[in-house]
Amino acid sequence: MKAAVIDAYKQPMPVLKQVEIPTMRSNDVLVQIVAASINPIDIKTKDGGLRMLLKYEMPMIMGSDFSGVVTAVGDSVTSYQVGDAIYGRVQKNRIGTFAEFIAVDQADVALKPTNMTFEEAASIPLVGLTSYQAIHDIMKVRPGDKVMIQGGSGGIGVLAIQIAKNLGAYVATTTSADNFALVQSLGADEVIDFRTTDFSEVLSGYDFILDTRGGKTLEDAFKIVRPGGKVVNIAGLPNARFGREYGVPLWKRMAFGFATRNLTKLEKKTDVTYTFLFMKPSGAELEILRQLIERDVIHAVIDRVIPFDQIDSALTYSRSGKATGKIILKMTNQYNQEAAV
Ligand SMILES: NC(=O)c1ccc[n+]([C@@H]2O[C@H](COP(=O)([O-])OP(=O)(O)OC[C@H]3O[C@@H](n4cnc5c(N)ncnc54)[C@H](OP(=O)(O)O)[C@@H]3O)[C@@H](O)[C@H]2O)c1
Repeated sequence: MKAAVIDAYKQPMPVLKQVEIPTMRSNDVLVQIVAASINPIDIKTKDGGLRMLLKYEMPMIMGSDFSGVVTAVGDSVTSYQVGDAIYGRVQKNRIGTFAEFIAVDQADVALKPTNMTFEEAASIPLVGLTSYQAIHDIMKVRPGDKVMIQGGSGGIGVLAIQIAKNLGAYVATTTSADNFALVQSLGADEVIDFRTTDFSEVLSGYDFILDTRGGKTLEDAFKIVRPGGKVVNIAGLPNARFGREYGVPLWKRMAFGFATRNLTKLEKKTDVTYTFLFMKPSGAELEILRQLIERDVIHAVIDRVIPFDQIDSALTYSRSGKATGKIILKMTNQYNQEAAV
């Protein structure tokens, strides 16, 4: 099969190569991939930026989520059969969706929403699960809660706004002026232009903030959250508490604790909890998202669809940080043509 392979960390771009189709385990389905989405983690992984959390053996195939069609099932698979259209986010140690096939555990996938094309469905798994885990599982948002989402027009933002609104939250978000109409159409109640306005000077009394930026933006988050509230961060630094839950060795937990000492001070000073989230694959939660999508509660927002052969341009665009919604890679195969009709 054709796959986007890197042979060493920091390689400028993956190389499209012929490689073996992945070997299946008994709980796996083998999927012919129709579309995959680009996520910032792809470049971070390629550049070795996540080595404190994840170390890959080289060569490795890039890519974390997908939509596609089941072409074979392992001996223990009970939930899916050949021909099923599914979508999923693979486990972090089994990535490789920028390829024609992937072997994935049945527990990490769900049926593709019937009202989405393969391209739309591929835009959901990683960002949908991250947003759901932040807003539903960690914040446990209830009607009337005030939620601030940084970067409402990004891959995460477009899903997080919709999920928070569906739970009845009042939602504020940041984006640049060109994307105001988009985030308002998704339900945002208050929109701040991050290029001209400092959110921490105009917002206060929020129950929760989902930080997608890290750095100063993350530290400023503590200024707008009420005592007892939560800052959930997906783009900054893991703290020692996360390290303990993630099962990393003591020396790494100490390194995390040292790197986040300012955040720990802010937690104590403001009585706001800091949680670093590293999303987990979950077929069960993708099934919940499927139902929300089929009820028209959640919609895909796609910036552009790029043929697999042009993966370099897709990664370059992702690195620019200017995408509005998701960047999708499209395979050329019989299913894709069907989806396009
Ligand atoms: N920990 C986890 O499990 C996890 C999971 C998923 C993602 N992440 C991380 O979360 C971050 C966001 O991911 P993403 O997929 O949303 O990225 P993305 O799609 O690349 O985000 C691009 C968007 O960010 C907006 N933006 C740029 N600078 C901004 C600023 N200063 N304030 C507010 N918005 C700004 C841009 O808006 P304009 O076009 O208007 O400039 C653009 O719409 C990444 O660092 C990613 O690695 C972590």
